[in-house]
Amino acid sequence: MILYFSGTGNSLSISRQLAEKLNDKVMPLTQAVNLDLSQEQRIGLVFPCYWFNAPRAVTELVPRLKLNKQAYLFIIIPCGAQAGNAIWKVRKMIAAKGIDVAYSHKIRVPDNSAVGFGRNPNDQVWKFDRYAGRLETIASDIAAGLRRKHYAWWGPAGALCAIPAVQRRTLPMLTPEVNIDKCVTCGICTNVCPQANISFANGKAHCGDNCTQCLACVHFCPHQAVELNHKATPKAHQYHHPKVALSDITCSHETNKSTPTP
Ligand SMILES: Cc1cc2nc3c(=O)[nH]c(=O)nc-3n(C[C@H](O)[C@H](O)[C@H](O)COP(=O)(O)O)c2cc1C
Repeated sequence: MILYFSGTGNSLSISRQLAEKLNDKVMPLTQAVNLDLSQEQRIGLVFPCYWFNAPRAVTELVPRLKLNKQAYLFIIIPCGAQAGNAIWKVRKMIAAKGIDVAYSHKIRVPDNSAVGFGRNPNDQVWKFDRYAGRLETIASDIAAGLRRKHYAWWGPAGALCAIPAVQRRTLPMLTPEVNIDKCVTCGICTNVCPQANISFANGKAHCGDNCTQCLACVHFCPHQAVELNHKATPKAHQYHHPKVALSDITCSHETNKSTPTP
């Protein structure tokens, strides 16, 4: 079973490709926390790296998983460049459940956070071809039950980004806000948000304090009304994995909802 967390589809697509090669199944992490996985012989965790660390949503969900202590457990991080401490952090959480992560790897994909820095993630689709071979290797390693941990580089950057004083400077750079002048209250942002963090009151959208920074709302808003740093993301810079649809992301998160769509 391959469990994924995904805002813009890279992790979902990598999970699907691995599942196809391994003849396995995929499931959103948000659904998996409600199941007993203690009979699963092989568990994969696929999630992005944020700020050289694991996403807040993932670190909140992983401790709730009911896993088989004998399972072959692997972690794959689809990231823009460097996974930092993302693997290490989740491996520690899994170790607390008495399970040793057998295999881990990162794989480079378009960086969906580029929009926060005025760049276009769609300019990075070349990574799909460049790193396709790595995915083949990862799949055959896992199929062979190989035990190998790849921690990637930039661990110190992960430690730096986890310091609260640093987070106060960095996190606002990639924290979305809804521009109510552009918002047509279509509800797409609420549907793609894995944290039920966007609500509507008096016909106006509002972001709460529970954002995990997946940027799904920024990339999927059809009116470019969800902004970073009070700047609109140009339509051409909106990104999602080409083989992942809006409905896939909506389905991935729907069990984590408590806020109804407007
Ligand atoms: C808030 C945020 C921070 C990110 N930080 C990093 C990072 O530190 N290193 C990196 O290589 N990629 C980083 N990325 C890029 C994502 O890891 C990458 O685009 C990932 O594939 C997104 O996965 P998804 O499409 O499944 O949501 C960041 C993305 C976001 C949204």
